[in-house]
Amino acid sequence: MTAPSIVILTGAGISAESGLGTFRDEGGLWAQHRIEDVATPEGFARNPQLVVDFYNARRAQAAEASPNAAHRALAQLQAEHAGSVTLVTQNVDDLHEKGGSTDVIHMHGALNSALCATCEHRWPAPLAMSVGQDCPNCAGPTARPDIVWFGEIPYHMERIERTLANADVFVAIGTSGNVYPAAGFVQMARHVGAETIEMNLEPGENVGLFDDVRPGKASETVPNWVAEILAG
Ligand code: APR
Repeated sequence: MTAPSIVILTGAGISAESGLGTFRDEGGLWAQHRIEDVATPEGFARNPQLVVDFYNARRAQAAEASPNAAHRALAQLQAEHAGSVTLVTQNVDDLHEKGGSTDVIHMHGALNSALCATCEHRWPAPLAMSVGQDCPNCAGPTARPDIVWFGEIPYHMERIERTLANADVFVAIGTSGNVYPAAGFVQMARHVGAETIEMNLEPGENVGLFDDVRPGKASETVPNWVAEILAG
């Protein structure tokens, strides 16, 4: 019996116990800010300073945050599982990397990356970006946060779809299942006969599509599941 191929999707809930806010929980980021003001290309065009300040604050907070037991357990799974482990995250923080994970697929971009809106060059973002910052490649004053905003196309979708097509197990951790295409990954996994598991504090919008639902805090549910998998 070959070791199962595992695809993992994480959301803001896996970073909640590291002190980073989620979006749709009580008092979450979308209760404090209007999505159309800080997470759309139109909002950036309308008021780039507001958007740059929003991501500067999140980048500074993420820089101070530490990975929790859930991040570390997924890194251990990647290191020790005999089958393939693909880690896709909707999160823009670097807690998976700080927790020891490698080759993390950031489908919504990353706080630590800057993007040139003119030539699409990417470079490590400074802790605090400024409006009209010059691109080191084309010198255009068109640097922006390397974040996928609403209405934009998530990154790495071809690779993600290829791994889902070959998944034996699909696990969604700490995501409310509200935002597509990520919320549709469970359907794609079911279509190829994969076992589907949800690990969330509250049931997600698409909880009915999961074979196995494990409610609770990620810092508890994820290490328990990883121990099960590694015990074979
Ligand atoms: N452990 C496990 N799950 C948790 C925890 C925790 N400690 N705390 C919260 N959760 C769960 C919540 O129950 C909720 O279902 O995490 C989920 C967070 O949902 P959202 O705030 O909607 O975050 P997410 O699903 O990642 O949002 C997806 O929406 O706004 C966009 O681009 C943004 O990537 C984000 C996307």
